[in-house]
Amino acid sequence: MKSSEIALRRTFAIVSHPDAGKTTLTEKFLWYGKVIREAGHVRAKANKSYTVSDWMKIEQQRGISVSSSVLNFPFEGCYFNLVDTPGHQDFCEDTYRALTAVDAALVLIDSVNGVEKQTIKLMEVCRMRHTPIITFINKMDLDGRDVLELLDEIEKILQIQTCPFTLPIGYGKLFKGVYSIADNTFHTFSKNDGKQEILQMSGADDPKLAELCGEEYIKEFKNRYDVATQAMEPFEKEKYLAGKQCPVFFGSAVNNFGVRQLLNAFANIAPPPAPRESDIRLVEPMEDKFSAFVFKIQANMDPRHRDRTAFLRICSGSFERGNKIFHCRTGREIRLAAPTSFLAQDKEVIDIAYAGDIVGINDPGIFNIGDTLTEGEKFKFSGIPDFAPEFFARVTLLNPLKSKQLGKGLSQLSEEGATQLFSALSSALPVIGVVGELQFDVLKHRLENEYGAEVQLDKIPVFCARWISGDQKKQDDFAKEYKGDCMQDKHGNLVCLFPNEYRLNLAVKNYSELKFSKVSSNEEE
Ligand code: G4P
Repeated sequence: MKSSEIALRRTFAIVSHPDAGKTTLTEKFLWYGKVIREAGHVRAKANKSYTVSDWMKIEQQRGISVSSSVLNFPFEGCYFNLVDTPGHQDFCEDTYRALTAVDAALVLIDSVNGVEKQTIKLMEVCRMRHTPIITFINKMDLDGRDVLELLDEIEKILQIQTCPFTLPIGYGKLFKGVYSIADNTFHTFSKNDGKQEILQMSGADDPKLAELCGEEYIKEFKNRYDVATQAMEPFEKEKYLAGKQCPVFFGSAVNNFGVRQLLNAFANIAPPPAPRESDIRLVEPMEDKFSAFVFKIQANMDPRHRDRTAFLRICSGSFERGNKIFHCRTGREIRLAAPTSFLAQDKEVIDIAYAGDIVGINDPGIFNIGDTLTEGEKFKFSGIPDFAPEFFARVTLLNPLKSKQLGKGLSQLSEEGATQLFSALSSALPVIGVVGELQFDVLKHRLENEYGAEVQLDKIPVFCARWISGDQKKQDDFAKEYKGDCMQDKHGNLVCLFPNEYRLNLAVKNYSELKFSKVSSNEEE
C-alpha cells in the first residue's frame, strides 16, 4: 500500500528565465489538477522581485492560498509536488536548493527568446545532479524562432540531447497545432481555450494534414519531421532518467495548449522518488521508516500571524500526523502536530504523507536548512549545499526605536537561508551576506514591510570571505590583527572579509596553522 503510494509521487520544479511563462503554466497545471476551477489569465505583478514565491501572483489575483513554495495537485492517478524556483532576475540560494528537493525538472523555454541566462544557470545545477528533464517550448502563438534552430540551441547551450515528442505546424498567427510523433495525432490549436481537437492521422504524410493546415506549412513540417525521426537519436528512457536526453513538447501556456500532453508525459515517464545519499548509507524511498530533510524555511507566509514554516522533502517511508520524529542535529524528539500540504483552496492539514512529498511544518525555531529528520536512526542527508555569500553590507537602522524589530527581522530572515547574518568585531552594526545582490533589495523591503524596521545598507567592498578555523589561540591572534575585517557568523565562527588578494595571501602565509575555508565548516550542521 505504502509502496504503491510512493510510486505515484512525481516531484518536480520548473526551470526557466523570468517571463517565459512559468506562472501561467503553473496555473494551467492547477486547473488540470482540479485545484482551481477557472484557469484564466494571471496578470503579472508590476514588482515581481518582492514576491516570496512567484505563485503569490496567482494567490493575489485568484484569492486562493498558494503563497507557498510548493504546490501539490493530483493528475491521472499521480500525485504531483511542484516546487517553486523563485524566478528573480538575480539568484539566491533558495533557487538552487529547491532543485535539491526534486526528482525531475521541467525546462520552460520562450520560443521567441530561446535559451536564456537564468535557464542556463539552473540547468547547470540539474546537470550536476543528473536530474531528468522534460522541455516545453512555450509561446508558439508568437512569431518565434525556427524550431530546429531552437532544438540545436538547447543541445549546444544546455548540453542535453533533445528528442521532440511533438512538432509544431505553422507558428505565430498561423500556428496550426502540434503533431504528436508517437501516436500520429494532430492537435489543432485555437486561441484562448477555444475548440482544440485531437485528430488521428495515418502518418505524417496523411493528406488530411495538408487539407487542414495548407501545403506550405506541411512542407516545412515534413522537413522537421524527417530530421526528428531520421537524423535525431530516438527516445531512450534510460538516457532521459540519467539526465542525458530530454523529450521536447511545443505549446502555448496562455492558450492552454500542449499542457495536458506535458502533464501526461510527467505522469508516464518522470521518475518516482529516487534514493538519496546520506553520510552513512543510501536511503531508499520504499524503506519502511520515515526520513526527510529541510530544504527551505520561510517566515511570515501568513501576514496575519507571525509564523515560520519549514519545508520537508520526505525521502523514505511515510509519516502520520502526530508521529514523533528524531531531529538528528540536536538529538531531540519532536512531535509533528500539524503537517500541511499546499493543495486546493487552502493550506490543508494532512494526515499522512509519503516519500516524494513536500510538506510544510510549523517551525518553532528549531530547524536549520539541511537538517535531517528520521524515526530514530542518526544520519545526515548529503547534497544540500551551503552557499558562501559573495556580497556583504552593513545594516544601519534609520529609526533607533525599532532596534528590537530589526534584531528579530534580521535573525528570522537569515534563518530562511537567503541571507546570512554576521556580527562585526569592530562595530556594533550587523553585517549581512548574500549570494545574489538582489537579495539586498528584498531584505530591505521585507524588513520594512514585515518588521517595520527601515534600514540603510552600505555595501562592503570585498574580494572574498574566508571562514577561519584551527587553534583557538592562533584564531584570537588573527582576530586581533585583522579586527577591522573580521566578524562572527551565527554559530560564532570567525569569518574574515578580505578587501584584496594581497591581504588574503599575506594572511594565509602568516597564519599557516589556520585553515581558510570558502564555506562554513560548522561541525554540527
Ligand atoms: P513567469 O512566471 O515565467 O515570469 O511568466 P508569466 O507566466 O508571468 O508570463 C510572462 C508573460 O508571458 C505574461 O504576459 C504571460 O501572459 C505571457 N505568456 C505566457 N504564456 C504565453 C503564451 O503561450 N503565449 C503568449 N503570447 N504569451 C504568453 P505579460 O504581458 O507579462 O502579462 P499580462 O499582462 O499578459 O498578464
